[in-house]
Amino acid sequence: MQDLSPKDTDETPNEVGAVVNLLPAGELDQLAQDTETDKSSKRHDYMRFYEHLLAPYRNQEFSFLELGVGLPSRRAPSLRTWKAYFPKARIIGVDIRPGARDFEEDRIHIEIGNAARPRFLKRVFRSYQPSIILDDASHFWSHQIIGFQTLFPMLPPGGVYIVEDVHTSFLAQTEGSQYADYSESFWSYFNRLQSAVVCAQRHGPTLSIEENRIASWIDAIFVTRKSVAVVKRQSPRRREWMSAPEA
Ligand SMILES: C[S@@+](CC[C@H](N)C(=O)[O-])C[C@H]1O[C@@H](n2cnc3c(N)ncnc32)[C@H](O)[C@@H]1O
Repeated sequence: MQDLSPKDTDETPNEVGAVVNLLPAGELDQLAQDTETDKSSKRHDYMRFYEHLLAPYRNQEFSFLELGVGLPSRRAPSLRTWKAYFPKARIIGVDIRPGARDFEEDRIHIEIGNAARPRFLKRVFRSYQPSIILDDASHFWSHQIIGFQTLFPMLPPGGVYIVEDVHTSFLAQTEGSQYADYSESFWSYFNRLQSAVVCAQRHGPTLSIEENRIASWIDAIFVTRKSVAVVKRQSPRRREWMSAPEA
């Protein structure tokens, strides 16, 4: 078999071509640094990617829902960041701790409840009709799957669903990880959907009817360190969904 492994090379990249920073840290990252949320480039470094993806929403009137408000001592830094970046948006934070209500203010709404409960999530969705949803709550495998399965189908076309701290999928049950509370990790579940999208739902893994339907609504997936973002299509790829093999 041909050896395709990369060879050591002394070549310096970009000696000839233009050097372009496609994903620079911008205003959203600076706002995140100001509020000291760990989403900034000082820690997880998510905001460069999110700004690239979410900038078209910047001056829109819409609702942004984040699951997980954070410790009281931190004063809801991510919710305040979204409020500053999206001047016309309504920001909704969900948390299981009643104390999170303290961070309600103009354009920031707090809902108290368990983000692992589909009925609660659906009620919150119906109240605010968010276009962007970000899951930064418990990071438990089952909760991340339940959140995505419940809320992604409810998003409008052009909506975005983000799941953070996906690296918890790689912390094993066998090592006693608190996140490993289900038979399948979020990444394993998500990767099956991703495979179905990449192969246009023809030769990929066998999915349930519901999973095939979800895959047919996925327009694009952005994956970076510890975070995935999913953009919803304007309409489903009905032919793919109808002809996909089912579990
Ligand atoms: C990582 S912190 C959120 C940080 C915040 N998004 C930020 O970036 O500043 C996670 C939050 O999720 C909340 N949480 C944990 N399990 C939850 C659940 N089952 N439902 C709702 N909130 C939960 C915790 O109380 C905590 O405040």
